[in-house]
Amino acid sequence: MKIIMLGAPGAGKGTQAKSIAKKYGIPHISTGDIFRANIKNGTELGKKAKAFMDQGMLVPDELTLDLVMDRFAQDDCKSGYVLDGFPRTIPQAEALTAALAQNQETVDYAIDIAVPDEAIVERMSGRRACLTCGATYHVVYNPPKKADVCDICGAALVQRDDDKPETVQKRLTVYHEQTQPLIEYYEKQGILKQVDGTKDMSEVFEEIIGILG
Ligand code: AP5
Repeated sequence: MKIIMLGAPGAGKGTQAKSIAKKYGIPHISTGDIFRANIKNGTELGKKAKAFMDQGMLVPDELTLDLVMDRFAQDDCKSGYVLDGFPRTIPQAEALTAALAQNQETVDYAIDIAVPDEAIVERMSGRRACLTCGATYHVVYNPPKKADVCDICGAALVQRDDDKPETVQKRLTVYHEQTQPLIEYYEKQGILKQVDGTKDMSEVFEEIIGILG
């Protein structure tokens, strides 16, 4: 099963993608996590990506596409995957469609998690992230058992650099301009499913399971 998660920054794509990956036994591929791991490890890609991410801008397609295509080629992707944060532009979506078509494959579902902009800023300000294992928490809606410590790996939780309110506003603008057109792109392909992301996390997940079966 090949699934794409769509939605604004902070809509809950990562939260739901992790649960989907666990339930269906497929890898969760997050381009944001891949970039953040590169930043943490001080790679050349990480240095380049950080300059864009810290300003709330998208990393250019030429830095993103090869990275994702290499990841798809790995063995664990043979039975599918859930993509979180990719594609994010029409050229990225077209590149994905073309790459899959080479093997007579298509995406099965594009799930759009709908959350109004007003709710996004509050969610982002309360998010805490583990840069070691990629787990995500929220100080109110999904707190860790011990404050600022990851339940899974015990590392210290941090607030992401791009979760400052002014950067979140920029990310929302970029989302509306460059990523939202993907909703229409996948609607035309007949695979778009929309869920109400303002509900409780477990209710959103139930709605998604109802779609995926
Ligand atoms: P990325 O890491 O993908 O960020 P994003 O898309 O902006 O999404 P987020 O991770 O911020 O949010 P999310 O929707 O996953 O929400 P989450 O589940 O964490 O990308 C970061 C940057 O990398 C981009 O800005 C760009 O620069 C670059 N990049 C990445 N991919 C790229 C690409 N393909 N091309 C170019 N550049 C790329 O939830 C948010 C918070 O809300 C959490 O605290 C969570 O606990 C809480 N929450 C979740 N669901 C609920 C709920 N139902 N109710 C209450 N709280 C909830």
